[in-house]
Amino acid sequence: MCGIVGYTGPKPAFAFLIDGLKRLEYRGYDSAGISLLNGDSVLTVKSIGKVVNLEAKRPTGERKMHTGIAHTRWATHGIPSERNAHPHTDEKGQFAVVHNGIIENHADLRKRLEAAGHKFASDTDSEVIPHLIEEFYNGDLAEAVAAALRQISGTYGIAVISSKDPDTIITARLGSPIVIGLGKDANMVASDVTALVTYTRDVIYLNDGEMAILTPSKVELRTLANVPVQRQASQVSWEISADGKGAYDHYMLKEIYEQPESVENSIRGRLNFKAANAVLSGLNLTPREMAQINRIVVAACGSSFHAGLVGSYYFEDISGIPASVEQAAEFRYRNPIIEPNTLVLPISQSGETADTLAAVREAVNKGAIVASLCNVVGSTIARESGRGIYLHAGPEISVASTKAFTCQVTVLLMLALLLGRNRRLNHEWGENLVREIEAIPDLLREVLKQAPRIEQIAKATAHANDLFYIGRGCLYPAALEGALKLKEISYVHAEGYHAAELKHGPIALLEPSVPVVALCNNIPGKDKMLGNIQECCARKAPIIAVVSGDDDCCDKFTDSIIRVPESSRFVAPITTVVALQIFAYYFARERGCEIDQPRNLAKSVTVE
Ligand code: AGP
Repeated sequence: MCGIVGYTGPKPAFAFLIDGLKRLEYRGYDSAGISLLNGDSVLTVKSIGKVVNLEAKRPTGERKMHTGIAHTRWATHGIPSERNAHPHTDEKGQFAVVHNGIIENHADLRKRLEAAGHKFASDTDSEVIPHLIEEFYNGDLAEAVAAALRQISGTYGIAVISSKDPDTIITARLGSPIVIGLGKDANMVASDVTALVTYTRDVIYLNDGEMAILTPSKVELRTLANVPVQRQASQVSWEISADGKGAYDHYMLKEIYEQPESVENSIRGRLNFKAANAVLSGLNLTPREMAQINRIVVAACGSSFHAGLVGSYYFEDISGIPASVEQAAEFRYRNPIIEPNTLVLPISQSGETADTLAAVREAVNKGAIVASLCNVVGSTIARESGRGIYLHAGPEISVASTKAFTCQVTVLLMLALLLGRNRRLNHEWGENLVREIEAIPDLLREVLKQAPRIEQIAKATAHANDLFYIGRGCLYPAALEGALKLKEISYVHAEGYHAAELKHGPIALLEPSVPVVALCNNIPGKDKMLGNIQECCARKAPIIAVVSGDDDCCDKFTDSIIRVPESSRFVAPITTVVALQIFAYYFARERGCEIDQPRNLAKSVTVE
């Protein structure tokens, strides 16, 4: 949610930290701050709003300051304001701390510290950390940090600098990601590898309960209990294009247009035409182990949850395995029935979503086979699941997920094929599916060609303040995803519904000012869908119809028709959601909304 970055090395730290914050801004963006070591003191600057506001507060003499930490905040405890922005310090300003996560016992700690004479300057939970470090400091910064963290219950990823320890950053994690970047005569830290990849490809991921001491020449890892840790650096392969958005006005639009290539990357090397099968080596399951899977449970949040819903149709229809999808936030609290032959599939673009991570841990504890679908290589969910399939969608910067969703669904389709071929799917059916999957990128290119027409329809609809999205079968989750896209970037109320459910209540809301986006592709259930559209028309709701190819089935209901290429029911959710992403984008743009960083949202939700 919030972003952390830190640098110690020969270069001026301020420029590095500002650049890192800009790259992390998509994660949280209501305020930002930087602390720099300035001789024998710590200099801190903060601002509310975007990182450019902080950049404008460039401190005099910053070029001589070579060690610093910085933070971009998504408020949890305390309103967005300068006093609540990180870094937080002790009263004397000797210890500066940036923190991601939530300190659950902060109220007790604060009471105790205040009773001991500490004065607090913010409403945040995080501020207890520098005060605790001050309490425990006895000449060794790392020891003081470890002692402070032992007092804390909750989650944290932190970075600390102190006027008492030149050129040094201490970092630690419990439940909130920290990655260390290894440079030439410089070392760096961040909450997300995106902040580091333009400087180094060599990184070390901290595990829960570990801390690290960084100086320009050395990185030392140990546990909070002071046990040394040895870990090889990993190589990051992501390319973050230097020109950012390139010719596009927003990352969201760029990422929408990247989908043919990102899906191609997801598929690459994973289809075996001869065997009419998918090859998903990260799954690491023998044919016998696959044959023993008797149930699939997906755990995910938001768009990833919707992708999982599409997947559940695939698993039952293609693989013949009962499947259900759980809101990851509910998974561990409802005491799910997980047996040794249950395959639990956590799905997460970021691989850091707190609720999904908690579901992974619950599933691992219950002895399930856990295989994650993540985009971010080396992310916590990917690592803790032990096995899984990477999406290879490339970095997704826009808060609204687009290309990760289509890659998730594509990977789920390949997984359903693999499990299906392992049981009831014959060679011919397998071959058909392989062909369908291979064709997805070209179908997406066709959808993108429709963008000008979709833009027109979106602009003509953008006055609406309430919309319904309806679909059936695999297109029901597509309706949910379309509605989520619209509400998150345009701040307009949009609800996804199963088309048949509409008449069980929500139809009461239909009137001429409430458009209905009806997914009427040429797939089983279309006839029933046409009936549902009639029901909406009878309430004078304007219809925006998504249809396959030249199909004229909806011509009598509306002029607002979005055409996606003909495809099977399995591929239809992928092409349709791309059309709905384009619709949401131009709708929000017409309303003048902030698209890449919508209000109140964060890219990666690392609190429960
Ligand atoms: C999607 O547009 C949203 N920003 C959000 O629902 C997201 O999908 C959700 O927070 C899950 O994130 P994850 O895939 O990184 O776990």
